[in-house]
Amino acid sequence: MDHFLYRDGELYAEDVPLAEIAAQVGTPFYVYSHATLTRHFTLFDEALSGMDHLVCYAMKAASNQAILKIMAGLGAGMDVVSGGEYRRAVAAGVPGDKIVFSGVGKTREEMTLALTHGVRQFNLESEPEMEVLNEVALSLGVVAPVTVRVNPDVDAKTHAKIATGKSENKFGIPIARAREVYARIAQLPGLKAVGIDVHIGSQLTDLEPYRLAFTKVAELTDSLRADGHDIIRLDLGGGLGIPYERGNAAPPLPVEYGALVKEVLGDKGVEIEIEPGRLIAGNAGLMVSKVIYVKKGEGRDFLIIDGAMNDLVRPAMYDAHHDIVPVKEATPGVEQQPYDVVGPVCETGDTFAKGRSLAPLVAGDLVAFRSAGAYGAVMASEYNTRPLIPEVLVKGDQFEVIRARPSFEEIINRDTIPEWV
Ligand code: LLP
Repeated sequence: MDHFLYRDGELYAEDVPLAEIAAQVGTPFYVYSHATLTRHFTLFDEALSGMDHLVCYAMKAASNQAILKIMAGLGAGMDVVSGGEYRRAVAAGVPGDKIVFSGVGKTREEMTLALTHGVRQFNLESEPEMEVLNEVALSLGVVAPVTVRVNPDVDAKTHAKIATGKSENKFGIPIARAREVYARIAQLPGLKAVGIDVHIGSQLTDLEPYRLAFTKVAELTDSLRADGHDIIRLDLGGGLGIPYERGNAAPPLPVEYGALVKEVLGDKGVEIEIEPGRLIAGNAGLMVSKVIYVKKGEGRDFLIIDGAMNDLVRPAMYDAHHDIVPVKEATPGVEQQPYDVVGPVCETGDTFAKGRSLAPLVAGDLVAFRSAGAYGAVMASEYNTRPLIPEVLVKGDQFEVIRARPSFEEIINRDTIPEWV
């Protein structure tokens, strides 16, 4: 459920007509709903009620500080994967002891930053990283709390580019080697193991892979405890999918996911951490764009819009589907026609949809891409020297730009031309 609904023939974000934002901010732009973000966080929080838990928002999905501030205000922790994300989380007011540091390639500088300003735990992804973190912690005279991200060799049954829990993926340490690795950690004075971490992929639409992975983590918890380790926390990662296509079967709900966590891990006496990103931000955001031209092609019409692959890369990168809807509601009963929806970038890959059925549109009409709140703005680039598009936050009847569109001067002046050129 989201808060982008038609009212009197116009698409609204909460109580604000999208056309009003477009008139003020220009297109294209991203818009997020405060109420939807809040609702999605709360669904996870409630799904784990009765268990000691912390929902750590995977901020890679949408990292605008206004969004982080909303999450922090609801009591969320953060899952960060770079020094940049760590700094952004701190700038938004997230305390260090609620920040989980994930990622396969943490540098000494990033480790130092987090150890100096505070961190809940590092999720270790390799043995070399473990040795380096021990050195960094010792040099600072502190002990780093860690989990080991185990790779359970489970097929998440999602797009290959976002599956992470198979043995051929670069993530984590093979679960079969975990006992050995925890034994080594126990010998390292700069590290203290506090738990186990697992994340098997993103946009999961089935709970079975989770069941398999969580069951392996439950078994590992017992073995590690038998080996004398103090496992007080299990980080179960993120990955629960969202409905991208209306009319298709919806993925399991957070409450069902929570019930599974309780069923498999409820008796372990551990604190549960989860790292959802997409489910919190995905359907809480739209990308709004304007039709520039309608071009007659051979056997198809092209809808050329002012948004492009650099603004929303998911269709080009993962063949992802985003529902596209007119901002002005189509007249009921009007015959739809197929369009190839494309952007202005000079690549055939700059195609959002092929043969998409839409009510007839003309130049100047606004369209909204649904489910664009996660992995939308954060993955945008300035390819073709197209400015990063603005982000807008709506709450009730108020809205505000939370990241402005840069001017062309700002973009161009970032380059420096050596005198000797
Ligand atoms: N935790 C870890 C360790 C992760 O790697 C990720 C996502 C998450 C949590 C959050 O997963 P979520 O709940 O958002 O599924 N750009 C791709 C998605 C990449 C996901 C990367 N890791 C896309 O647009 O589909």
